Amino acid sequence: MEQASHDQPLALPKHVAIIMDGNGRWAKRKGKIRTFGHKAGVDAVRASVKYARENGICALTLFAFSSENWKRPEDEVKVLMELFNLVLNSEVKKLNKNDVRLRVIGDLTRFDKKLVDKIRKAENLTAQNTALTLNIAANYGGRWDIANAAKQLALQVARGEIDANSVDENALTEHISMADLPPLDLLIRTGGEQRISNFLLWQCAYAEFFFTPILWPDFNEAAFAQAVESFSERQRRYGMTGEQVTAATIC
Ligand code: IPE
Ligand code: IPE
Ligand code: MG
Repeated sequence: MEQASHDQPLALPKHVAIIMDGNGRWAKRKGKIRTFGHKAGVDAVRASVKYARENGICALTLFAFSSENWKRPEDEVKVLMELFNLVLNSEVKKLNKNDVRLRVIGDLTRFDKKLVDKIRKAENLTAQNTALTLNIAANYGGRWDIANAAKQLALQVARGEIDANSVDENALTEHISMADLPPLDLLIRTGGEQRISNFLLWQCAYAEFFFTPILWPDFNEAAFAQAVESFSERQRRYGMTGEQVTAATIC
């Protein structure tokens, strides 16, 4: 693997996303039920937010519940929803105090109205915070995100607001989740699987990937630092040659 020269400043990711996987296996290894792992995973969320805030990361996007996770046993889905609710109750004040802006991405139409109200309230409360943007992906699917952006554009065409010929990559990008944030630099997946599981399909176009066998409840600041270190050693070429990138960095 070609590595970035040591003469160049270390590149740090502005936007990191994490597929928080492995809660069920973590619990099973301890002889407990799967939901015990989900509850333990909350500490790893806190550690990741702290690391991101203290290390100059602008945006942290966490995959909490996929559009496919509804297929899980009813009891497990119920506990996950309750946990989301409890975490909102216990963490929003602290996040606000720590200057963190909270946002939830995904299709919220399937959630309980009370939960959606709580989410919107938390988003409004923290909207002006600038230390870190924390995006929680809930009932999120990368295909949903792309289809949703296409629908927004189709509606604009139908209303005569834009011309169908103006529908291009840039127009779609503007309607994809997190369009106002820096592009995704680094995608981390814990739990050992090496797949995207319908996470940020569009946003991953030029993201760097980091897979770790660590199960989510065991993920901590040191593990996060290891992923960032791996990122900083890579050369992102965006289709160019390594020589072109080196020349552009020196200028
Ligand atoms: C990730 O852990 C959490 C959610 C998907 C909500 P899992 O529950 O998928 O844990 P494993 O992969 O079964 O170990
Ligand atoms: C991805 O994990 C979703 C979240 C971490 C929220 P899954 O455990 O659902 O992914 P698959 O089923 O192994 O692909
Ligand atoms: Mg899993």
